[in-house]
Amino acid sequence: MENIVVKENKPGRICPHQIAFMLDNPIRRIFQNPVKMLRPYISEEDTAIDLGCGPGFFTIDMAKLVGPKGRVIAVDLQEKMLGHVRKKAIKHHVEERIQFFKCEQERVGLDQKADFILAYYMVHETPSPRALLAELKTMLNKGGKILIVEPKMHVTQKSFEEMISDIRELGFNVCNYPQKTGGRSVLISG
Ligand SMILES: C[S@@+](CC[C@H](N)C(=O)[O-])C[C@H]1O[C@@H](n2cnc3c(N)ncnc32)[C@H](O)[C@@H]1O
Repeated sequence: MENIVVKENKPGRICPHQIAFMLDNPIRRIFQNPVKMLRPYISEEDTAIDLGCGPGFFTIDMAKLVGPKGRVIAVDLQEKMLGHVRKKAIKHHVEERIQFFKCEQERVGLDQKADFILAYYMVHETPSPRALLAELKTMLNKGGKILIVEPKMHVTQKSFEEMISDIRELGFNVCNYPQKTGGRSVLISG
């Protein structure tokens, strides 16, 4: 992994767990349907990571898509967010397919590889998106893909394009720019 200087994050930039209910509600499902959005990328028996999972809006459907022999790793730096996901997983009877991992802000630190990684509305919250991307490159299985979706409200087209430059410089392939995802999106492979 290349040597990258991690910049300080601005305080208050992390989405607080107190507003988890805003991320996980039935109205959002109408506009950002997790199954419709992710079915093209997740197969049964896959290992998939929901990075910056928040309260698990995507995690539960990801667990259904990987099926009983697959695995989803729900990763977040806020323990309270993981707590929300755990409760939902039990309610939907998919807790055995989900592994919970509390990471640090500067490093995911997960010693496992995945076939698919979702980073939905989270990259812009990290102290160094480039450092995160470099780490994610080491976490993909052969043929694995990463879907990044960033909110238009917080990420300008210019900064999204800067991230795409980093993505190319780090040696990823840009597969496409998926539409109707609810934000600025890019699908990349390792
Ligand atoms: C805006 S929320 C999105 C949650 C979820 N992906 C969704 O779309 O509902 C961003 C989440 O990313 C998490 N996050 C922010 N920085 C992170 C980091 N460096 N590593 C892991 N998770 C992070 C936050 O704790 C928060 O739960």
